[in-house]
Amino acid sequence: MTDSTSSASRLSLELATPAATGCLGVALADVLRPGDVLALQGDLGTGKTALCRAYIRAAVGDPAEEVPSPTFTLVQVYDTPGWAIWHYDLYRLEQPEDAYELDIEDAFEEGVALIEWPDRLGRLLPRRAIHLTLIQTGETSRRVDVEAQPHLLSRLSAAFTAAQAAAK
Ligand SMILES: Nc1ncnc2c1ncn2[C@@H]1O[C@H](COP(=O)(O)OP(=O)(O)O)[C@@H](O)[C@H]1O
Ligand SMILES: [Mg+2]
Repeated sequence: MTDSTSSASRLSLELATPAATGCLGVALADVLRPGDVLALQGDLGTGKTALCRAYIRAAVGDPAEEVPSPTFTLVQVYDTPGWAIWHYDLYRLEQPEDAYELDIEDAFEEGVALIEWPDRLGRLLPRRAIHLTLIQTGETSRRVDVEAQPHLLSRLSAAFTAAQAAAK
């Protein structure tokens, strides 16, 4: 884990179907570790929650795990065998400091934090955050641009390819 994104690189992945987004969730479960922060950008309906759901189900090891959007609760917490996952939707956060009441410090230190609408955190968003931007390219297709350290991107890319091959 590093606290700088100064040497961050970019990776673009085509998510041609919702199943491909599911495979990216599986790939994320392969590479994310405690202390990782995923900042998920993209317009409403681009698949931020869908991707988080796929990741959480893979990380928890239960494809039937209920993963509601934290639209109103702002945060939902899940236990994996190794650590907790904090899933935030901060669209309704009025000011960055309000995130302290949502245990954001614990999430950043002890678990994996998934954050929809990360701009609401302002300067409280850790500089080490991995940035994912989802873009709608068709009714059922998306593209995701990932900005992170090069070593993480190459592991993610390999895990995504493997997950897609395994799903065939
Ligand atoms: N390739 C795809 N990847 C992810 N979601 C997709 C895809 N194609 C269609 N969708 C649909 O887009 C919607 C995304 O909704 P959601 O995940 O709640 O978006 P957000 O959290 O970004 O507002 C879902 O209805 C999902 O089924
Ligand atoms: Mg959402």
